[in-house]
Amino acid sequence: MFSSSTIAVPKTDKVPRHVAIIMDGNGRWARNRFLPRVAGHRRGLEAVRTTVRGCAEAGVGYLTLFAFSSENWRRPEEEVSFLMELFVVALRQEVARLHENNIRLKVIGDRSGLEARLVELITQGERKTAGNTGLTLTIAADYGGRWDILQAVNKMISEHPDKQGCYSEGDLAPFLALSYAPEPDLFIRTGGEQRISNFLLWQLAYTEFLFTDELWPDFNSKSLARAFSSYRSRERRFGRTSEQVTDMQRQVESKTPTR
Ligand code: FPP
Repeated sequence: MFSSSTIAVPKTDKVPRHVAIIMDGNGRWARNRFLPRVAGHRRGLEAVRTTVRGCAEAGVGYLTLFAFSSENWRRPEEEVSFLMELFVVALRQEVARLHENNIRLKVIGDRSGLEARLVELITQGERKTAGNTGLTLTIAADYGGRWDILQAVNKMISEHPDKQGCYSEGDLAPFLALSYAPEPDLFIRTGGEQRISNFLLWQLAYTEFLFTDELWPDFNSKSLARAFSSYRSRERRFGRTSEQVTDMQRQVESKTPTR
């Protein structure tokens, strides 16, 4: 799917077509309860289930979750191992349920550093759900925005060596990790920090940002509804003036037949 918010103004709707989330605050949630950090990650997986369900019910087309960044390898070894194990367990437990609910699973990121059994489960999960037509759930694992841009540039150059110096967004787009999805409409980061942390650097060009102090394990259907409500209240201008946006809306409304 090639659509670029910097080349043409995309069609937008009341419900975001693509939601991208940095699920932050698991460690603090656990610490607040005198629990080990990993207990926060375990509860974080429950918030993932709630959010996937909520997005599917709301008619969101794509949900992309940052589960493990290319920089998260810097964490203590036991925590990294736990997160990998949690990913294995989640894939074993959830793929069948995703499939029953017509959800397509995708995983983006550098798979070369992941354990073989995890890569095998990812491949199986993606294959099993490939034909599903409901929500596309993308898990970013060992993903970094800079890694994504660089791997795409390298592939693009080796695919079109003849075009040197004249590459376009359209040439790059098929090689970006999220080539199958429209750009995110709504970005949510829980946990109170206000940064992108090397998430979808290319794709977030015109995304609406929402930062919440809520810790990820506490994020629930009400939190999601609040995020959607905030999104609905935004004016998405994509470089235009507010007056232009209003005029365009009037034109669309005047062409919409009334019953
Ligand atoms: C950030 O919180 C969270 C992570 C790095 C891991 C996210 C993982 C999950 C939500 C569970 C597993 C999900 C899947 C899809 C298998 P943090 O640890 O940085 O929290 P802190 O800032 O409070 O320390």
